[in-house]
Amino acid sequence: MSTDKLPPNNSNLQDTIDRSPTSDPVEIDRRLALTGLSFAMDTQRSIRRVNPDPVPDYAIRRCIELALEAPTGSNGQNWHFIVVRDSVTKTKLGDQYRRAWKIYGSVGHKLAERTPDQGQLKKILASVEWQIDNFNTIPVLIVCCLSAGHGRVPFIPLPPNANSGHYGSIYPSIQNLLLAARAIGLGASLITLPLWSEIFARKILGLPLTVEPCAIVALGWPKGKYGPKARKSVETVIHTERFGSS
Ligand SMILES: Cc1cc2nc3c(=O)[nH]c(=O)nc-3n(C[C@H](O)[C@H](O)[C@H](O)COP(=O)(O)O)c2cc1C
Repeated sequence: MSTDKLPPNNSNLQDTIDRSPTSDPVEIDRRLALTGLSFAMDTQRSIRRVNPDPVPDYAIRRCIELALEAPTGSNGQNWHFIVVRDSVTKTKLGDQYRRAWKIYGSVGHKLAERTPDQGQLKKILASVEWQIDNFNTIPVLIVCCLSAGHGRVPFIPLPPNANSGHYGSIYPSIQNLLLAARAIGLGASLITLPLWSEIFARKILGLPLTVEPCAIVALGWPKGKYGPKARKSVETVIHTERFGSS
C-alpha cells in the first residue's frame, strides 16, 4: 500500500468557490455538485470562528437532505434535526456550553501545559473559547437528535455494543451534513458540550422524553480557511487480520 497521500486534485477549482457567502440556490447546488468528495473530506475541519452573516434556508435544507442519505440501524431513520436561529435559544445553549467548559476546559489547559506540542492544543482551546464567547452570534445551530424505539429497549440491560448501534444512527448523518456544509463553503463544527445537561437541553428545545439530543452542528460563513488538520498516519491504525499485525 502506498504511504504517500496525494494532494487534492481539484484545488484550482476549489479556490474559485471556497468560502464566499452566497444565498443563490443555483450556486449552492453548483458547489455541492462540483466539490470532489475526497477534496471535501481532506479539507473539512472544525471551523468554530464564523461570521454573523445569515446562512440561507436553502443551504440548511440541502445539508439536512444530504444528511438523510446516511444509514441508520434497522433503517429506523429515527432522526430529528432542530434548526435554531433564535438568539435567546442560542444564548441559553451557550450558557450550558460555558458551564460544561469550566470543567472540560480547565482539564484541557492543564493538559496543554504538559503536552510537547502545546501550540496545536492551545489553538484548539482558543477557538473553542472564541466559540463560547460568541455563541449567540453563530447564525445557525442544528441540533441532531434521535428518537427512541430503535435498537435500545428501556430498562433491559444490553451489551455495550448496543450504544454503538444507537448513536451510530446519528453520526453518519452528521458527517454527511459536515461534508455538505464544507462543499457549500460553510464553516461547521460538531459540538456536544452544550448538551451536557440533557435536562436543560430538553427544556430549552422543548424536546419530548422520546427524543434525545445527541450533538449540535454550528454553522456560518467562515472567518478563516479550511485545513490543514492534524491526523495520525494511516500506518499507525491499520492492522492486518488481527490486532497488532502490520
Ligand atoms: C463526538 C464529538 C464531540 C465533540 N464535541 C465538541 C465540543 O463540544 N466542542 C468542540 O469545540 N469540539 C467538539 N468536537 C470536535 C473535536 O474537538 C474536533 O473534531 C477535533 O478536535 C479534531 O479537529 P478537526 O475537526 O478540526 O479536525 C467534538 C467531536 C466529536 C466527534
